[in-house]
Amino acid sequence: MNVLIINGGMPRGGRTELITRFIASEYGFKYEDISAANLPFLTGEPDQWQLPEVVAFKEKVSAASGIILISPEYHGGMTGALKNTLDFLTSDQLAHKPVALLATAGGGKGGINCLNNMRTVMRGFYANVIPKQIVLDPECFNYDDGTLWEESRILVDEMVHELKMYTKMSEQLIPRVILD
Ligand SMILES: Cc1cc2nc3c(=O)[nH]c(=O)nc-3n(C[C@H](O)[C@H](O)[C@H](O)COP(=O)(O)O)c2cc1C
Repeated sequence: MNVLIINGGMPRGGRTELITRFIASEYGFKYEDISAANLPFLTGEPDQWQLPEVVAFKEKVSAASGIILISPEYHGGMTGALKNTLDFLTSDQLAHKPVALLATAGGGKGGINCLNNMRTVMRGFYANVIPKQIVLDPECFNYDDGTLWEESRILVDEMVHELKMYTKMSEQLIPRVILD
């Protein structure tokens, strides 16, 4: 199962990086740091769509059968850099594709607006955003070994399980529905 994690976080070594690496190694998924994708600011210039970095990023998303979108909450939404990255995509890469959402947040009940923002944007691509979603606060992390405390680990496991279920379903059903 080809699940791609898109890490919309900024600083290397932050919590968003930590959870991205944790999920990738725990479940054998690939991940893409948006900084490594090296996309420019979208200006709308026609040449931008042909840039090798843009084409490569679109191909990676296209090839994935499921996506985990991870972002820190920045002022009530996903990071601006992640939105810029997503704006290079179209529904050709994401329509009907199962997408799981995870936000890192500063605590004090933050994070839900980031999830809602990502859900709205994914709806704009006609993606199939799964019901389970997670906010991870600073105290969810075990910084000694770069993992999560048990309660959060269970939440992640349940969300990944659900994503795998929908991904398996769409791998089996969507080609048939399109052919019918
Ligand atoms: C510019 C900026 C805006 C932020 N806005 C929010 C916010 O609206 N709600 C929230 O819960 N946390 C907010 N935070 C805290 C981050 O979401 C939190 O620290 C997160 O873990 C950062 O991810 P990182 O550890 O990968 O850098 C903000 C942090 C920054 C730098």
